[in-house]
Amino acid sequence: MGLLELAQKQKQKLEEEKDTSIEIKEEKISKEPKGLLEKAKAKKQTKTILKGTEGKKEIIEEKTGFGYKGIGIRKICYDDAKKEYFYETIEPQLNEEEKEIKKELSHLFKMLADVNVSDMTKKEKEKFLEKTLEQIVIDNNIKFFGRKIKKEEQTKKGLKSIFSKNEKSNEKEELKKLTKEEIEKKEKEIKDRVFYHLFRDFLGYGKIDIIMEDEGIEDISCDGHNVPIFIYHKKYDEISSNIIFDKEEELNSFVVRLAQICGKQISVYSPIVDGKLPDGSRLQTTLARTVTRGSTFTIRKFKENPLTPIDLINFQSISLEMAAYFWMAIEKGASILFCGGTASGKTTALNALSLFIPGSHKIVSIEDTREVNLPHENWIAGTTRQGFSASDEKTGKDIDMFDLIRAALRQRPKVVMVGEVRGNEAYSLFQAMATGHTSYATVHASDIHTLIQRLENPPISLPRALLTSLDIIVFQNAVDIKGKTVRRMTSVTEIVKLDPDTNQLIFMEPYKWVSKTDDRFESSGSSKILNNIRLQNDWSDLELCEELEKRILILRWMVEKGVNDYREVGRIVNLYSKYPDDILKKAAEETKK
Ligand SMILES: Nc1ncnc2c1ncn2[C@@H]1O[C@H](COP(=O)(O)OP(=O)(O)OP(=O)(O)O)[C@@H](O)[C@H]1O
Ligand SMILES: [Mg+2]
Repeated sequence: MGLLELAQKQKQKLEEEKDTSIEIKEEKISKEPKGLLEKAKAKKQTKTILKGTEGKKEIIEEKTGFGYKGIGIRKICYDDAKKEYFYETIEPQLNEEEKEIKKELSHLFKMLADVNVSDMTKKEKEKFLEKTLEQIVIDNNIKFFGRKIKKEEQTKKGLKSIFSKNEKSNEKEELKKLTKEEIEKKEKEIKDRVFYHLFRDFLGYGKIDIIMEDEGIEDISCDGHNVPIFIYHKKYDEISSNIIFDKEEELNSFVVRLAQICGKQISVYSPIVDGKLPDGSRLQTTLARTVTRGSTFTIRKFKENPLTPIDLINFQSISLEMAAYFWMAIEKGASILFCGGTASGKTTALNALSLFIPGSHKIVSIEDTREVNLPHENWIAGTTRQGFSASDEKTGKDIDMFDLIRAALRQRPKVVMVGEVRGNEAYSLFQAMATGHTSYATVHASDIHTLIQRLENPPISLPRALLTSLDIIVFQNAVDIKGKTVRRMTSVTEIVKLDPDTNQLIFMEPYKWVSKTDDRFESSGSSKILNNIRLQNDWSDLELCEELEKRILILRWMVEKGVNDYREVGRIVNLYSKYPDDILKKAAEETKK
């Protein structure tokens, strides 16, 4: 490569970098604040952003390989001026001409591709789309580069590379200077850029495609147009991104599309939709100005490989001893209610601890949107369905949790799992518990008093006596420790009995989390469940402790071995129930202490 070429390349690179930073600036500034205070704030913000782009933005992490041919990039930056992390996606930009080509291709594709893709896997869909688009390009003799040569442009800007901001150039001049190979190269570059956008829009999630593909993200939330999309990152908590829906209509149509992907309809008549995206993520969306300021959506990302008890131990959300306790309790069929606030990790704890359910037990799970993911084969996963009727009355086509629980009880399950109890289904669930079905459910309640109040008052209205069929109540909390949000199981409470004289429930708390400063778990040393297990097996206290120790040893072995696949955890749990001595021997040999 000649020196000149090298210099040109470097210049081009510099321009690209400049272009992307300008883009972020523009997006931030384009928000138009109304009040005086807001204006002042915005001024301050603009200043800091400008400062940030002046070189104070430090790239903490960078990941490439998103989207078509892995062209997309995402970065996590630290803005020193704002003392904040920032999520940045970098995608190829299209200029007006390229947008035209994209529009043309997308129109032709929609006209021609009349096939059913519902049975195809993602890979097959990608292949199909690429093949069809290539064919359309050949059949229609579509040129990507130098198509409007006649249109003389003023700027002498060099040819755009893949990430450059698009400015018009004098293509005719350029074209003359280029060799055949160079033209082919440019042709391919533009084609890749256009295909990137077509793939993103047809198969992916449009503007938020990179975020949807990024593993480290827990939640995505869009609070309206002209506001950056916020993400909840595993490592960096709540951070803003450079993705913004500029126009109200753009966001509206995006929300309509998201709902459609979930197989639901969102309209002014029915502006709130809960659904499940094809990858398993949970979607909540509202349309236009009917119920919120503008359209909004919140996505709880699905985890391909759900968290296991080993992960919970690693994150210090539970202790080794607590995990061993749950293992024994769940194996013996104790019913558990997982309580906590929003996003405190209720569903995650339910799913993780369910790996302790013996492999042969028949499980029926019931949820509004499917989140539970188990390795068990004998498992019916039910989800509720909203009817299509226009009236608010329940119709024959509606299937709610209550219907599903009733159906579940006829399916002869050993374990009934309910995603989130809110209404009259709680009554059926507790009936199921009282009739000997092991049940697991999550409830939104922050402490035991709120929980009892919620359960005893409408719409649940549970008689207190029924509560005694519940064995364990677990409280999950998201707590701030040293500026970082972590999840802790703050209390494990057992229901001992209902005092007939005072009509009060009597509790026992075998484990509790101590405090933010200590950040450890404390065991009270007494548990009704463990005592029952001891009596059933005719064990002495020592024998019970020994069994607990054995399970702690196996769990520690899994932690040290770095077992993090939920199927593998399930497999070891099953092996232990069948060949305890063999597994113990192996674990003892392989653990250091
Ligand atoms: N112990 C944990 N350690 C680290 N991350 C966790 C833990 N528990 C849950 N999470 C993460 O927190 C997010 C929220 O978890 P989860 O869906 O279980 O919360 P939830 O209490 O069920 O929320 P909601 O009330 O919205 O149903 C998920 O992305 C999950 O991966
Ligand atoms: Mg949940």
